[in-house]
Amino acid sequence: MFRYVYLSDVSPEFEPYQMGTLAQQARIKNRMLDVTSLLLFDGLHFCQYLEGPEAAVHQLMREIGRDARHCTLRTLGEGLSSNPRRLPDDGLLVGYSTDVFLLSSLGKHTGDVDEVVARIWQILPRLDVDRSADWNRRE
Ligand SMILES: Cc1cc2nc3c(=O)[nH]c(=O)nc-3n(C[C@H](O)[C@H](O)[C@H](O)COP(=O)(O)O)c2cc1C
Repeated sequence: MFRYVYLSDVSPEFEPYQMGTLAQQARIKNRMLDVTSLLLFDGLHFCQYLEGPEAAVHQLMREIGRDARHCTLRTLGEGLSSNPRRLPDDGLLVGYSTDVFLLSSLGKHTGDVDEVVARIWQILPRLDVDRSADWNRRE
């Protein structure tokens, strides 16, 4: 199981109403690639956690890195883990934050992927997560 976490800035041309389409397409493709992911959004930043086979996560990250809907992508952590998946078999969960400092504060945790992931799970109760029922049980 490979894990990857990044923080990025939302491009000015990306409108919040476009999240639905983005998430729907990503969810289908992630399922095909056996990748599960949590995408956090506060209007200014994206923070995404991806987990799955290493090659699939790297392939996705190459595509995501080229996507004009965001910019200034900072890798907060990446690495192999023997831990089971943290996320349900759903392809993609989306979490919304109304606090614009919450996601950017994750940038302080750059480096150690376990620390970044632990911090994300700490702040999850402060986010509005679609389909929250499942991931709660898996923690
Ligand atoms: C913030 C952000 C997160 C994304 N997350 C995913 C993702 O988890 N899975 C995915 O397939 N595409 C994701 N995308 C879309 C990809 O960048 C890209 O558009 C998509 O992989 C293209 O797929 P296609 O060429 O097969 O249609 C994301 C885009 C953005 C801006």
